[in-house]
Amino acid sequence: MYNSKVMEAFANPQNVGVIENPSGEGTVGNASCGDIMKITLKIENDVIVDAKFQTFGCAAAIATSSTATQMIIGMTVDEALQVTNAKVVEELEGLPPQKMHCSVLAEEAIKKAIEDYKSKKQ
Ligand code: FES
Repeated sequence: MYNSKVMEAFANPQNVGVIENPSGEGTVGNASCGDIMKITLKIENDVIVDAKFQTFGCAAAIATSSTATQMIIGMTVDEALQVTNAKVVEELEGLPPQKMHCSVLAEEAIKKAIEDYKSKKQ
Protein backbone atom coordinates (compact mmCIF):
# COMPACT_ATOMS: atom_id res chain seq x y z
CA MET A 1 0.00 0.00 0.00
CA TYR A 2 2.94 2.39 0.65
CA ASN A 3 5.63 3.37 -1.86
CA SER A 4 9.31 2.62 -1.12
CA LYS A 5 10.09 6.18 -0.01
CA VAL A 6 7.34 6.06 2.63
CA MET A 7 8.46 2.60 3.75
CA GLU A 8 12.05 3.83 4.10
CA ALA A 9 10.96 6.86 6.17
CA PHE A 10 8.83 4.59 8.35
CA ALA A 11 11.49 1.91 8.79
CA ASN A 12 14.28 4.40 9.43
CA PRO A 13 12.66 7.55 10.84
CA GLN A 14 14.85 10.60 11.46
CA ASN A 15 14.58 13.09 14.33
CA VAL A 16 12.73 10.81 16.73
CA GLY A 17 12.69 12.07 20.31
CA VAL A 18 12.13 15.14 22.41
CA ILE A 19 14.27 18.28 22.69
CA GLU A 20 14.86 19.28 26.31
CA ASN A 21 13.80 22.86 27.07
CA PRO A 22 12.43 23.40 23.56
CA SER A 23 11.86 26.84 22.06
CA GLY A 24 8.41 25.64 21.10
CA GLU A 25 6.35 22.48 21.35
CA GLY A 26 3.10 21.30 19.87
CA THR A 27 1.00 18.23 20.57
CA VAL A 28 -1.93 17.34 18.34
CA GLY A 29 -4.34 14.47 18.04
CA ASN A 30 -6.04 13.06 15.00
CA ALA A 31 -9.75 13.06 15.70
CA SER A 32 -10.48 10.40 13.09
CA CYS A 33 -8.16 7.71 14.54
CA GLY A 34 -7.06 8.92 17.98
CA ASP A 35 -3.34 9.00 17.12
CA ILE A 36 -1.13 11.61 18.79
CA MET A 37 1.99 13.50 17.72
CA LYS A 38 4.32 15.79 19.65
CA ILE A 39 6.89 18.03 17.96
CA THR A 40 9.56 19.98 19.81
CA LEU A 41 11.66 22.68 18.15
CA LYS A 42 14.94 24.41 18.92
CA ILE A 43 14.90 27.86 17.34
CA GLU A 44 17.71 30.41 17.21
CA ASN A 45 17.13 33.88 15.73
CA ASP A 46 13.87 32.63 14.17
CA VAL A 47 15.68 29.75 12.42
CA ILE A 48 14.76 26.16 13.26
CA VAL A 49 18.06 24.52 14.19
CA ASP A 50 16.57 21.24 15.45
CA ALA A 51 13.24 19.45 15.37
CA LYS A 52 12.19 16.19 16.96
CA PHE A 53 8.97 14.22 17.00
CA GLN A 54 7.21 11.49 18.93
CA THR A 55 4.33 9.87 17.11
CA PHE A 56 1.94 7.39 18.62
CA GLY A 57 0.41 6.59 15.30
CA CYS A 58 0.45 4.70 12.05
CA ALA A 59 3.19 4.23 9.46
CA ALA A 60 1.99 7.21 7.42
CA ALA A 61 2.03 9.47 10.48
CA ILE A 62 5.58 8.37 11.35
CA ALA A 63 6.87 8.71 7.78
CA THR A 64 5.35 12.17 7.36
CA SER A 65 6.63 13.44 10.71
CA SER A 66 10.13 12.19 9.96
CA THR A 67 10.08 13.88 6.56
CA ALA A 68 8.45 17.08 7.82
CA THR A 69 11.07 17.54 10.56
CA GLN A 70 13.84 16.99 8.02
CA MET A 71 12.27 19.60 5.72
CA ILE A 72 11.93 22.34 8.35
CA ILE A 73 15.39 22.12 9.93
CA GLY A 74 17.26 25.12 8.54
CA MET A 75 14.11 27.04 7.66
CA THR A 76 12.95 30.26 9.31
CA VAL A 77 9.78 29.88 11.35
CA ASP A 78 7.82 31.77 8.70
CA GLU A 79 9.10 29.44 5.96
CA ALA A 80 8.18 26.42 8.09
CA LEU A 81 4.64 27.75 8.44
CA GLN A 82 4.32 27.36 4.65
CA VAL A 83 5.11 23.62 4.82
CA THR A 84 1.74 22.00 4.23
CA ASN A 85 0.87 18.33 4.50
CA ALA A 86 0.57 18.31 0.69
CA LYS A 87 4.22 19.40 0.38
CA VAL A 88 5.32 16.69 2.80
CA VAL A 89 3.35 14.06 0.86
CA GLU A 90 4.88 15.36 -2.39
CA GLU A 91 8.34 14.90 -0.85
CA LEU A 92 7.34 11.29 -0.04
CA GLU A 93 6.04 10.83 -3.61
CA GLY A 94 2.51 10.18 -2.46
CA LEU A 95 0.39 8.42 0.13
CA PRO A 96 -2.63 6.20 -0.39
CA PRO A 97 -5.76 8.43 -0.41
CA GLN A 98 -7.13 6.84 2.75
CA LYS A 99 -3.92 7.78 4.59
CA MET A 100 -3.81 11.45 3.58
CA HIS A 101 -5.45 12.51 6.86
CA CYS A 102 -2.44 11.08 8.72
CA SER A 103 -0.13 13.64 7.10
CA VAL A 104 -2.11 16.52 8.60
CA LEU A 105 -0.74 15.72 12.07
CA ALA A 106 2.81 16.85 11.25
CA GLU A 107 1.67 20.13 9.68
CA GLU A 108 -0.57 20.89 12.65
CA ALA A 109 2.04 19.94 15.26
CA ILE A 110 4.68 22.13 13.58
CA LYS A 111 2.26 25.08 13.40
CA LYS A 112 1.35 24.63 17.06
CA ALA A 113 5.02 24.44 18.10
CA ILE A 114 5.79 27.64 16.18
CA GLU A 115 2.78 29.39 17.75
CA ASP A 116 4.10 28.29 21.15
CA TYR A 117 7.53 29.73 20.29
CA LYS A 118 6.02 33.02 19.11
CA SER A 119 3.84 33.36 22.20
CA LYS A 120 6.83 32.75 24.50
CA LYS A 121 8.90 35.32 22.62
CA GLN A 122 6.46 38.17 23.26
FE1 FES B 1 -4.01 7.66 12.67
FE2 FES B 1 -2.71 7.44 10.47
S1 FES B 1 -4.31 6.19 11.12
S2 FES B 1 -2.50 8.99 11.94
